[in-house]
Amino acid sequence: MQQKNLNPDPIFELVKKEEERQKEMIGLIPSENHSSEAVRSVLSSCLSSKYAEGYPKRRYYEGNQIIDEIEILAQERLKKLFAVPHVNVQPYSGSPANSAVEFALLEAGDTMMGLALSSGGHLTHGHPKVTFSGRYFKSVQYGLDQNARIDYEQVRQLALEHRPKLIVAGTTAYPFALDFQKFAAIADEVGAYLLADISHITGLVATGEHQSPVPYAHVVMSTTHKTFRGPRGAMIMVTQKGLDKDPDLADKIDKAVFPALQGGPHNETTAAIAIAAAEALQPEFKQYGKQIRLNAQALASALREAGLKLVGDGTDNHLLLIDLTPFGEGFGTQVAFALDVAGIYANRNTIPSEPCSPFYPSGLRIGTPLVTTRGMKEQEMTKIAQWIGRVVDHIKTEQLPVEQAARRAFLQDFKKRMAKDEVLLKIRAEVKELASTFPLFAW
Ligand SMILES: Cc1ncc(COP(=O)(O)O)c(C=O)c1O
Repeated sequence: MQQKNLNPDPIFELVKKEEERQKEMIGLIPSENHSSEAVRSVLSSCLSSKYAEGYPKRRYYEGNQIIDEIEILAQERLKKLFAVPHVNVQPYSGSPANSAVEFALLEAGDTMMGLALSSGGHLTHGHPKVTFSGRYFKSVQYGLDQNARIDYEQVRQLALEHRPKLIVAGTTAYPFALDFQKFAAIADEVGAYLLADISHITGLVATGEHQSPVPYAHVVMSTTHKTFRGPRGAMIMVTQKGLDKDPDLADKIDKAVFPALQGGPHNETTAAIAIAAAEALQPEFKQYGKQIRLNAQALASALREAGLKLVGDGTDNHLLLIDLTPFGEGFGTQVAFALDVAGIYANRNTIPSEPCSPFYPSGLRIGTPLVTTRGMKEQEMTKIAQWIGRVVDHIKTEQLPVEQAARRAFLQDFKKRMAKDEVLLKIRAEVKELASTFPLFAW
């Protein structure tokens, strides 16, 4: 990778260090994954040197005969994998892809509905004020019931009241299965488009580990770098149901991606998506999807045994939310930091009805795609849960001050002390010993 004339650019040393960090630590961030050597190799290929504005056979630049073949292959493989008639693989990432769907289907001021961020929805699903979707459309947000499951009755009541043009069914911090059929019944009743954002669960949908939205939604969006295990990117699929509702839907989506919101596609990403799709079509990927859920369930039961409380008491998918309120409000911040010192990286997250704040949340969001890709199984999940339990137990007296003004100083001091804490560093050595025996990509 290192080139003669670039030597000694410190960037190469930093990349090496990051690789070491990933190998020595255990990653539990549910939106991350490691991809195969094949996926990674095309990302640094000559494909990144080519401009290809437009779509296959309709480009605005010459010299795209081969790029056309690559993009068509990516489309065809995804059409086969998800059984859809149309796919756009050009969105630069998930947020631009959702913006493109919203731009294609709505006019400024139209109403859309999505799951609130505080209930596990994504920013691009209409989070008010700070996002494109929340600023340019009238956004109505739905939430969860008392069991931390999506409140479908509330979704229906809000839809009947506000008559949205678009309903988004998708989540970023939700441990349970989505019922796309129920969403479709509500969307159909009010004549709305249904967008299924399956970014987190694509790999589970592709392997039959989660209900597919394809028979129910008009449009399906997904990032390609989470459970799908591909490059950072996104795809927008138009279903047969979508084309039946609006024969121009595919054209509207394509025009929203380019030229409305983007320029030239990143061909190296397109090629990597094509490779990830071929990998997902292999029988081995089915095994991978299954193991992601088995690992999540093993993690859930071992965490409960370690005395930790889970939002909704479990998981149906790849993700778990640990409710840390029994240890004090806002405790997610301390736990996430202490775990990082102990060699386990996860992310602090709000829990439903968060009592503290998004900056000092009371939960921890964890998931199994990364560790499953490394080849870890149920017995490693038990060890990981025990380490998490030990870390929480070790820092349980480290309470966030109630006064806002004192919090920053407390955390600064906490971080300084934890960075050299012997108990955490001992766990870090144990984590490293285990992690180092697993490659980053074992499939
Ligand atoms: C459900 C969902 N949609 C969209 C996105 C946005 O993807 P990106 O970060 O690639 O823009 C995410 C990212 O976490 C997500 O979880």
